[in-house]
Amino acid sequence: MEKYLINPNKKIGTISKDIYGHFSEHLGRCIYDGIFVGEDSPIPNVNGMRSDIVEALRDMGIPVLRWPGGCFADEYHWMDGVGDKSQRKRIINTNWGGVVEDNSFGTHEFMELCRQLDCDAYINGNVGSGTVREMSEWIEYMTFDGVSPMAELRRKNGREEPWKVKYFAVGNENWGCGGNMTPDYYAHEYDRYNSFIKDYNKDNHIYRIACGPNTADYDWTEQLMKISRDRMDALSLHYYTLTNGWQDKSPCLDYTDGEYYRMVAHAYGIDKVIDGHLRVMDHYDPEGKVDLVVDEWGTWHDVEPGTNPGFLYQQSTMRDAVVAGLTLNIFNKHADRIKMANIAQLINVLQAVILTDGEKMLLTPTYYIFKMYKQHQLNTAIDSYITSGMLDSDKGAFPQLIESASMDENGVITSTIVNASMTDSAEIKAQIADRSVTDIKAEIVTADPRAYNDFDGRHPVETTEFDDFAASADGFTAKLPACSIVKFTVKC
Ligand code: AHR
Repeated sequence: MEKYLINPNKKIGTISKDIYGHFSEHLGRCIYDGIFVGEDSPIPNVNGMRSDIVEALRDMGIPVLRWPGGCFADEYHWMDGVGDKSQRKRIINTNWGGVVEDNSFGTHEFMELCRQLDCDAYINGNVGSGTVREMSEWIEYMTFDGVSPMAELRRKNGREEPWKVKYFAVGNENWGCGGNMTPDYYAHEYDRYNSFIKDYNKDNHIYRIACGPNTADYDWTEQLMKISRDRMDALSLHYYTLTNGWQDKSPCLDYTDGEYYRMVAHAYGIDKVIDGHLRVMDHYDPEGKVDLVVDEWGTWHDVEPGTNPGFLYQQSTMRDAVVAGLTLNIFNKHADRIKMANIAQLINVLQAVILTDGEKMLLTPTYYIFKMYKQHQLNTAIDSYITSGMLDSDKGAFPQLIESASMDENGVITSTIVNASMTDSAEIKAQIADRSVTDIKAEIVTADPRAYNDFDGRHPVETTEFDDFAASADGFTAKLPACSIVKFTVKC
């Protein structure tokens, strides 16, 4: 029997709802043939956005959406995507399959999507192939409510009121596809671009995000913090989960047991990487003024056979659900420093929450994890600890059980626990410090470790009620099935 201790008296911090954020890039079928089908599509839509998808995402509780990239952001020129659609430039999407990008989805369409989703906008600017003026004018275009050339242009293009831009990133992966820069070169570029990111609207403070490291590149973090820490709100981190490495990924379906465990081990590795970057950040910023945002994370498998390799389309199984559950638990436990995270990507790309096939769409196992975990949004993360056996993989060992706990303003505790074992259930005994339990409800996502939802109507992975638990005076006992994610809602 594993011991699970929850201490509501020890608070970590408010869980930003934006930890449950998403990412939509002009990549493959994420935007076009994903969420945006156009006003003339036979698929039911509002202003071109698929109604079934909008409804599902609202239901899931999407708080923030990042756009337009990714690597695409550093070749995106926003002026190409505003104004009369018939006059918009057709360009090549050089990063993703070399396909034609007709710019029919631009700033106005993205803001309309955020309106329909009732979520905040996170815009990623172009440093790699853009100019300071272009970036500055984009912000003026989106946010200024007075008289200025860009505000007038926005009005001419049909939008009177400015939009709200909550987050803005100055470039993406500028150590790679965003310009192959060294950290100190990028830091000085960041400072130059940032000088012209104005808060044009007093009601819209732009939260500035500097391009951060790739995975465990602590030197990048060090240089950025050393040079630019006083001029940024946050540093971003990208962490993708791969079975073996970039040159040797594993299939998204039909993986071996070894590949399952390697994947989960790699996902668990984000905890150490986050701690490593926070240590460097704390050295330069002991008051913790600079936040960490993980604006790209998730599983990266081989593409589905027969699909365009540049489109990064992959099916999603219970393995992905386990990765999502444990990663979100790790983010919750870092609620004091991680203010946003964006899983890659929203639809039809990498660890998507929704897949489409023409007019059909399905909710992936990862979707159900986000929906289940939305209860953590804006709760206070509280201290918790679970004893656990270790699981082995040739990428290292990791705990079988990975959890997090939070509390709302009424004292209701939400606890989410992942049992990552493919074969073994786990019995737990939970104790909540200084509380008497009055009611418990639980939900579960569980299935065969290789199960997935498909377009032929097979839907083995979804959330169901869970009742294999018993309440006690100060907690509960439960038996968590193999390969499961369970949420307990405990009234005290
Ligand atoms: O999410 C896919 C790509 O991964 C993004 O465009 C890029 O930023 C990262 O390398």
